Amino acid sequence: MARHLITSALPYINGIKHLGNMVGSMLPADVYARYLRQRDHDVLYICATDEHGTPAELAAKESGLPVDAFCAEQHDAQKAVYDGFGLRFDYFGRSSSPQNVELTQHFARKLHENGFIEERAIRQVYSNADGRFLPDRYIVGTCPHCGYDKARGDQCENCTRVLDPTDLIDARSAISGSSDLEVRETKHLFLLQSKLQHEVEAFIDATGDEWPQLASSIARKWLTEGLHDRAITRDLDWGVPVPSDVWPDLAADGKVFYVWFDAPIEYIGATKEWSDLDPASRDWKSWWYEGEGAENVRYTEFMAKDNVPFHSVMFPATQLGTREPWKKVDYLKAFNWLTYYGGKFSTSQKRGVFTDAALELLPADYWRYFLVANAPESDDSSFSWEHFSATVNKDLADTLGNFVNRVLSFSRKRFGDDVPAGKEAGEAEQKLGEDIATLLAEYESHMDALQFRKAAAALRALWSAGNSYLEEKAPWLEIKTDPEAAALTLRTAMNLIHLYAVVSEPFIPASAAAMRSAFALTDDTATWITPAEARSLSAVPAGTAFTVPPVLFAKITDEDLESYKERFGGEE
Ligand code: 2FM
Ligand code: ZN
Repeated sequence: MARHLITSALPYINGIKHLGNMVGSMLPADVYARYLRQRDHDVLYICATDEHGTPAELAAKESGLPVDAFCAEQHDAQKAVYDGFGLRFDYFGRSSSPQNVELTQHFARKLHENGFIEERAIRQVYSNADGRFLPDRYIVGTCPHCGYDKARGDQCENCTRVLDPTDLIDARSAISGSSDLEVRETKHLFLLQSKLQHEVEAFIDATGDEWPQLASSIARKWLTEGLHDRAITRDLDWGVPVPSDVWPDLAADGKVFYVWFDAPIEYIGATKEWSDLDPASRDWKSWWYEGEGAENVRYTEFMAKDNVPFHSVMFPATQLGTREPWKKVDYLKAFNWLTYYGGKFSTSQKRGVFTDAALELLPADYWRYFLVANAPESDDSSFSWEHFSATVNKDLADTLGNFVNRVLSFSRKRFGDDVPAGKEAGEAEQKLGEDIATLLAEYESHMDALQFRKAAAALRALWSAGNSYLEEKAPWLEIKTDPEAAALTLRTAMNLIHLYAVVSEPFIPASAAAMRSAFALTDDTATWITPAEARSLSAVPAGTAFTVPPVLFAKITDEDLESYKERFGGEE
């Protein structure tokens, strides 16, 4: 038994996420965590909402709520959706928690003590009407390149050019609309990443080669370009305040830490939130502090590729600079983008599927299976309703669901409510057992390697093997000439159903539970079935009572398909 710490990138608080966001972080993390728990490992899966920064302030402003109330409401709304998707976090925290505030300030203090934080004066836009410095995205004006009149100070949304606020023509405050702006000098804290370059390099040399190529190549690219010192404070009302004992001037100025400074620290913060709820039995430090238990932990992070620089380079630099033995990432699983018909998911243009809308349409397992089986692992992958419905209909409804229903209904009709005994297993069952053991070993090795598409393919092959066996044995014919032979076939097929229930759990937990509870097994405590155990296909003995569960997966009809495309937008 090993100890596994798992985190997935913290979703921003500013609104419900779309499917593309979940497929590259929380969903595969949950699949992996479920698998490891089934294999009897000690697993801690931590996530949280990322609540600070300009996007949170702007979204709150738009909603008309004070930012703290907005965040509280949105945290609960996101959590409800993730519960609906069956994401089984051990804890889902909030980056605005007191625990994270304390830890973030602690990290800053340590970095300061060790000479990795410096105060520097920079020139920044000040709004007289608003009485505050404005972050770049709070300044709007006309783009000097394309003439778009709502360009933001950091970037023009229309021509995508990166801008400096002073480039804007007719610049004004996004808060008040006032153009009474001036450039003033102000002080900020800088993290001296350049001084940590060699240590981060050594860290990546020691661990990064084991990571997926996508993750290690991004980390290497950033290191090759050289780590630059980075401002880690901002002028916002909402965020972790700069500690006044160390930087009284900046604290008096109302400076808070940059959201990307406190967000990764919240992985630790959320673990402490979890631990503080039951300190007698939970010890956050044993997961995060080497020397207090974390030296035995394997830490795996999940995220989309745009998050890799922060997690592979900047967060490790922050951890290293404290000179404290914080647990660093062992394996960084990164994903490419999920596109919608080859284009971007777009909130403003109403293209794509949001997670709450997805759940209103169909149960979570349909989404979980499709998304993970088509995860953008080695390349971007594209969502289309056609692909989605074909996959659901073929893999889930036909190959798995129909198998379960056919076998159980037929057996009940012919042999009653208990698993029939029938003949001793013969050659066909022996061969089936060998095939299943081989496929299961393949499935395990892909899961162990976090190769989710390959794992899904092996799972699908396990389901298909049952169908091939059933077609070959044809119990509906056997029953006419040799009912004992038919009974053997059905008993074997029922054992496959039980095996599918166990091993499909990480992908389709609700359906797996329905399959498993079809059998009234007196001893069904085993969390996993190994290839060696699977070979004999005998976990469900003759005489076990069973019920026929309702249809596991309904097919998506052509009319459904058309209505989804119309509602969510199809190909351009
Ligand atoms: O890109 C994002 O959605 C960020 N909110 C991810 C933060 S991950 C971590 F560092 F907190
Ligand atoms: Zn422009």
